[in-house]
Amino acid sequence: MRIILLGPPGAGKGTQAKSMSESLDIVHISSGDLLRDHQSRGTELGDTARSYMQQGLLVPDDLIIGMIEERIKLPDAQNGYVLDGFPRTVEQALALEKALEKQGETIDTVANISVSEEELILRLGGRWICRNCQRPYHEVNSAPRKHGKCDDCEGELYQREDDVSEAVSKRIKVFAEQTVPLIGYYSDKEILVQVDGEGSIEGVRKSLLNAVA
Ligand code: AP5
Repeated sequence: MRIILLGPPGAGKGTQAKSMSESLDIVHISSGDLLRDHQSRGTELGDTARSYMQQGLLVPDDLIIGMIEERIKLPDAQNGYVLDGFPRTVEQALALEKALEKQGETIDTVANISVSEEELILRLGGRWICRNCQRPYHEVNSAPRKHGKCDDCEGELYQREDDVSEAVSKRIKVFAEQTVPLIGYYSDKEILVQVDGEGSIEGVRKSLLNAVA
């Protein structure tokens, strides 16, 4: 099963993709996590991506497309995946389609998670992430059991540098301008489902699993 999660920054894509990958036994591929991994390893891609990410801008399509094409060819992705954060532009969607066509594959479902701007700002302002396994927490909505430590792996929790208010506003604007056109693109292909992302984490999880079943 190959699934795409669309949605603005803070919609819950990472939270839900992690949980869906466990329920459906498919790999979670997050373009943002891959880029942050490149940054922590000090690769050329990571260094180039850093300034775009800090400003809340999209990293250029050619860099992202190559990175994802390589990732979906790896053995653990052959059983399917949930893509979180990719594609984000029509050009990325076209490149993904072309890469899949070569392997005789298609995307099964694209779920668009919608959340109001006010709620997105509250979520990103209170988000903490595990440095080790990338699980997201929220200081009010989904706090870890032990302060500053991940429930799953005891990793240290940190706040992302693009979760500051200026970058958050920019990311929301960039989503509206560059990613919203994908809703029409996938709706025309009749593989789009709409999911209300404003309920509880568990409620949204159930809606998503129903939507992709
Ligand atoms: P990326 O890492 O993909 O960030 P994003 O899309 O901005 O999304 P987020 O990770 O901020 O939010 P999310 O939807 O995953 O929410 P989460 O589950 O954490 O991208 C970062 C940057 O990398 C981009 O700006 C760009 O520069 C670059 N990039 C990445 N992909 C790219 C691409 N394809 N092309 C070009 N550039 C690219 O949840 C948020 C918070 O809310 C958490 O605290 C969580 O606990 C809480 N929460 C979640 N669900 C709920 C709920 N139902 N109720 C209450 N709280 C909730």
